[in-house]
Amino acid sequence: MAEPESKLNQRETDNGQTLPQEATPSDAMSDLVSEVSPAAQETVQEFMDVAAQQNVAANEAVPDRRNRPGPYIAFDHVFKAFADLVVLEDVSFSVLPGETLCILGRSGVGKSVALKILMGFLKPDSGRILVAGEDISHFTEREMQAVRNKVTMVFQNGALFDSITVGENVAFPLRERHDLAEDQIQHIVTGMLEMVGVAGMEGLLPSDLSTGMKRSVAIARALASQPEAILYDEPTTMVDPLMGHLLAELITRLKTQLHLTSIVVTHDMRFARKLADRIVFLHQGAARFFGTVEEMDRSDDPVLREFLEMDELVLPV
Ligand SMILES: Nc1ncnc2c1ncn2[C@@H]1O[C@H](COP(=O)(O)OP(=O)(O)OP(=O)(O)O)[C@@H](O)[C@H]1O
Ligand SMILES: [Mg+2]
Repeated sequence: MAEPESKLNQRETDNGQTLPQEATPSDAMSDLVSEVSPAAQETVQEFMDVAAQQNVAANEAVPDRRNRPGPYIAFDHVFKAFADLVVLEDVSFSVLPGETLCILGRSGVGKSVALKILMGFLKPDSGRILVAGEDISHFTEREMQAVRNKVTMVFQNGALFDSITVGENVAFPLRERHDLAEDQIQHIVTGMLEMVGVAGMEGLLPSDLSTGMKRSVAIARALASQPEAILYDEPTTMVDPLMGHLLAELITRLKTQLHLTSIVVTHDMRFARKLADRIVFLHQGAARFFGTVEEMDRSDDPVLREFLEMDELVLPV
């Protein structure tokens, strides 16, 4: 019988699952940074190493639960309605530090609402929302701004600043820090754009870009803010299959190499299977399924099965 995978490189989590042990940031980063032009490479490598180290520290700082790592993000019995329309009804799920959660569910089920609640753009009617171990559900706008420095969202349309160039969009979080020299900023902007597959587009305006390119720039801008967690709303849809594949590859590499905690709303089951440590399936207001891909495949819940089978019809393998 085959030996089970070595546990040496893994650590046990809250619910008895295992997470990969953190790799040395410098080694892990070389793959991402290899896309960057030689002049900018050293600055970008350093910038990404710092981000990875900060994320490892942030992941370790999340308070334990019962002597195991607690969640970085959690929805705890969350309710949300708009007038008579009940969108989320007693929804609970969690994301461990460095883990990726994929949110699945039909159109209109409340996936984007869940992300907006996490960012504090919408408030839950009741329930607790944990981010980095803190209950943010009653945070003021000012307190939420600090949370948004840790958790950033990549919107479907990119939500870029339309009146400034692509380069200035990416430079924006770098300038806000006031601790980087102009040549460092330029190197990081160049490098980030190369990493996300839109090299040399610094001088264009967002309106000159395709949907997929805007999303890539939004990811570059998110990375420039060195977040601990990124939330992606449908990152691979409404773009051609090649762009979708490139974005999926990038998100997968960022997850493993930057130790980012991420939530990805997606309809793309192949992407979800590849990326997700766990999956939450929202249906009629409830978190109908929450577990690993293997548990999802073993589930005999007819509603979940129907959702997965429908996807196979749309996307034959
Ligand atoms: N600010 C709002 N005011 C009123 N209703 C809203 C608001 N935001 C969302 N809704 C409603 O909440 C429901 C869930 O919307 P949401 O955008 O979260 O769906 P979704 O799961 O992201 O769907 P899709 O896959 O199409 O993006 C929808 O019926 C939507 O009309
Ligand atoms: Mg949505």
